[in-house]
Amino acid sequence: MSTARGEFSSRFGFLMATSGSAIGLGNIWGFPTNAASNGGAAFLFTYLLLAFSLAYPALMAELIIGRHTRANAVSALRQLATGPVSKKVGTGVGLAGLLTVSLILSFYSIIGGWMVSWMLEAITSLLGLDAAALWFATDAVPRNSLFVLVFMALTIYVVSAGVRDGIEKWSTRLMPALVVLLLLLILYVFTLEGATEGLRAYLVPDFSRVASPGLIVSALGQAFFSLSLGVGTMLIYGSYLSSEENLPLTGSMVSMLDTGFSFLAGLLIIPAIYVALANGVQIYDDSGALVAGPGLIVSLLPSLFDSMGMVGALVALAFFALMVIASLTSSISMLEVPVAYTVETFKTQRSRAAIVIGSTVTVVSLILVFNFATLFDFVVTLTTEYSQPLLGFFFAIFVGWIWNRNEVLKELQKGYAGAEHSLFWKIWPFYISVVCPLAILAVYVQLIFF
Ligand code: PFF
Repeated sequence: MSTARGEFSSRFGFLMATSGSAIGLGNIWGFPTNAASNGGAAFLFTYLLLAFSLAYPALMAELIIGRHTRANAVSALRQLATGPVSKKVGTGVGLAGLLTVSLILSFYSIIGGWMVSWMLEAITSLLGLDAAALWFATDAVPRNSLFVLVFMALTIYVVSAGVRDGIEKWSTRLMPALVVLLLLLILYVFTLEGATEGLRAYLVPDFSRVASPGLIVSALGQAFFSLSLGVGTMLIYGSYLSSEENLPLTGSMVSMLDTGFSFLAGLLIIPAIYVALANGVQIYDDSGALVAGPGLIVSLLPSLFDSMGMVGALVALAFFALMVIASLTSSISMLEVPVAYTVETFKTQRSRAAIVIGSTVTVVSLILVFNFATLFDFVVTLTTEYSQPLLGFFFAIFVGWIWNRNEVLKELQKGYAGAEHSLFWKIWPFYISVVCPLAILAVYVQLIFF
């Protein structure tokens, strides 16, 4: 069965694809702005704690289900179900994940499209084509619609090509480029005036903030979004992983790459905010809050690049290329979820499934573009704050309570001789059956009632 399905050709390919999914706008845009507005290192500290104590165990749950069942999320959860009720719940959770990830893709592709447009802005200003540059830089419905189409076309192109020739090939090409670009940008920003102050704001913690409930909710949401959890993405990538790989080790590498990248992105963005301040750019909005969200990337940073003169256009090009790469390796993992489901359930040809589903998502994206003010934030909050953690809760319940524990261990022992004596096996089952569900519920109650 596994030969008829796709499989990653190596651990490196798997790591690049999976960390490609994990590392995205959430790391470069979400994490630093969350950290900057939540007490800097206090947020970093809470985030790291939650990422390793809750998000990593949840990631392991998805990877292990995927590799064991070698199927998409819907069929996988149905396979693990032990009776009619759990079968129905499994189908519901799988389908809800599929819908959630498609909606995430519909807003993600808008931001991905902005990044393509800003990259073209940098290129055209380097070439002295000022009118074109202005068009690319001006937020408008025709521009945003066009670049949603471009971004989705790229995503569909990669997913159509399949697991090895599309997802793995492009992730292994793009991810190393991403890391190199990020490091170069960090080094450059460190040389600018104001950067040290930014570093201080990022790395010197304001511990009075650590226990604040708002901070914990944001940090957990950020950790789940960042590791692409709850929606079947990690499950489907796990289903393409060879049985010879040591799962806890590979999963921990993905978590470390993802959190490491967020940390590095913080080293770029937060100092850049302070450099912008030193250059006279407005970094607080009318209410006195730090410019965050889309405003940070598409207004604050461009004004910073502008204030640097000619070299600014080059830096802008590198920065937006970084954003495009990061968002593309994530968007392909999103589209893969409904595509894999359709190919496996209805025996549809992969490229046809990618085109039909990708086009449907594009239509939803365009609806968001045309109704941005009313719909965009609503869809972001619904999918990332409400849906993702709740679905993560159900994945944990499936692994912790429904799936037979000996079977879980058997899957783990593949590629990991002696897993039964490992520290991982001593801790993780308790975490996934008790700690993760309770913690997610606690955060959820907080979110809904406070
Ligand atoms: N992890 C991605 C990011 O941090 O930008 C976002 C993401 C990718 C969410 C894939 C969900 C998903 F299925």
